Amino acid sequence: LIRVSILGATGYSGGELIRLLLNHPAVKLHHLTSVSSVGKSIEEIHPLLRGRLSHRFESLNVKKVVRNSDVVFSCFPPTVGMKSTAQLVKAGVKVIDLSADYRLPTGELFKKVYKTTHAAPALLKQAVYGLPELYRKEISASTLVANPGCYATAGILAAIPLLHNHLIDPKSLILDAKSGVSGAGKKLAHNFLFGEVESNFQAYGVTSHRHQPEMETILTCVARKPSQITFTPHLVPMLRGILAVLYATLKKSTRTQDIHALYQKMYQGEPFVRVLPLGQMPQTKNVNNTNYCDIGLVQDERSKRIIVISAIDNLVKGAAGQAIQNMNILFNRSEWEGLQ
Ligand SMILES: NC(=O)c1ccc[n+]([C@@H]2O[C@H](COP(=O)([O-])OP(=O)(O)OC[C@H]3O[C@@H](n4cnc5c(N)ncnc54)[C@H](OP(=O)(O)O)[C@@H]3O)[C@@H](O)[C@H]2O)c1
Repeated sequence: LIRVSILGATGYSGGELIRLLLNHPAVKLHHLTSVSSVGKSIEEIHPLLRGRLSHRFESLNVKKVVRNSDVVFSCFPPTVGMKSTAQLVKAGVKVIDLSADYRLPTGELFKKVYKTTHAAPALLKQAVYGLPELYRKEISASTLVANPGCYATAGILAAIPLLHNHLIDPKSLILDAKSGVSGAGKKLAHNFLFGEVESNFQAYGVTSHRHQPEMETILTCVARKPSQITFTPHLVPMLRGILAVLYATLKKSTRTQDIHALYQKMYQGEPFVRVLPLGQMPQTKNVNNTNYCDIGLVQDERSKRIIVISAIDNLVKGAAGQAIQNMNILFNRSEWEGLQ
């Protein structure tokens, strides 16, 4: 059995990990940590899991976690877990970090985006970006997987075939994405109160969202040319789900059927990417509670603009599900385990 511990297990991603891992045939859960809920039973915080496990939340003791874990999922808010992740990796434990701490390539870029100095910049080079559709081989051999951001997962999966096949100017990307409120985590914040979110639709972080440099880093690798993405995230009054709409200008006239065929070819054999038939568009309700990313596309023939739409569940393919997919790759298991 794979011995698993979850740090920051009281939050949305932590709760989703526990829920999914209880159905994993090869996993035994060990330490589930918290700061604010030490000693509480799991069902006090995640009532959905009542009767499913008898653990209690513990404070983080790195030595104990090292002793009893083959892999650790770190679900802290950004920057909180930089040090504990480095300690765990140094001690030989595999870490799948759901936060953004190890997603960017350099300490300089990290400081620019997160306004703080990285605690273990040397480790950034060792971390593998945990998008299996791009880096499956590298993930299988890694000790530190930087699980992608939720918007970044939806945006990058929509863009890869366009860039890989050099169909567009890599600086012409525009991503307009909408997320449910769980994307912001469980912390109390005024903006996410029901009274603020219900019957409302708002843009935020326009030109400054931290997933923009994350996406540009990966898209530049895919395109092998500097890529730019203008990114506008929105908050919509639903609990979970992301719908991302990507626009880009085609370099030359290309038939929509041919672009669609390239998407099908690129994602053929990918267990969790479903390229929809032409004429069909993804919807969040069709992917919620699953690890799927649905992708549909259409061309605005007048402007030669290709429009690619992707839908994911931010807590599953955008967080816990993708993290489990990465764990399965790390331990040479079927990628479906725990995610059926
Ligand atoms: N939500 C999403 O859709 C999503 C998607 C992709 C990635 N992510 C990333 O995944 C991570 C977890 O997200 P989430 O939505 O699960 O967040 P969350 O619901 O706010 O949970 C955060 C967890 O971290 C713990 N925590 C908070 N502040 C802490 C501190 N200063 N020291 C130690 N522990 C602390 C909390 O523990 P206690 O309150 O029990 O002490 C809680 O268990 C974040 O980095 C987020 O950016 C989230």
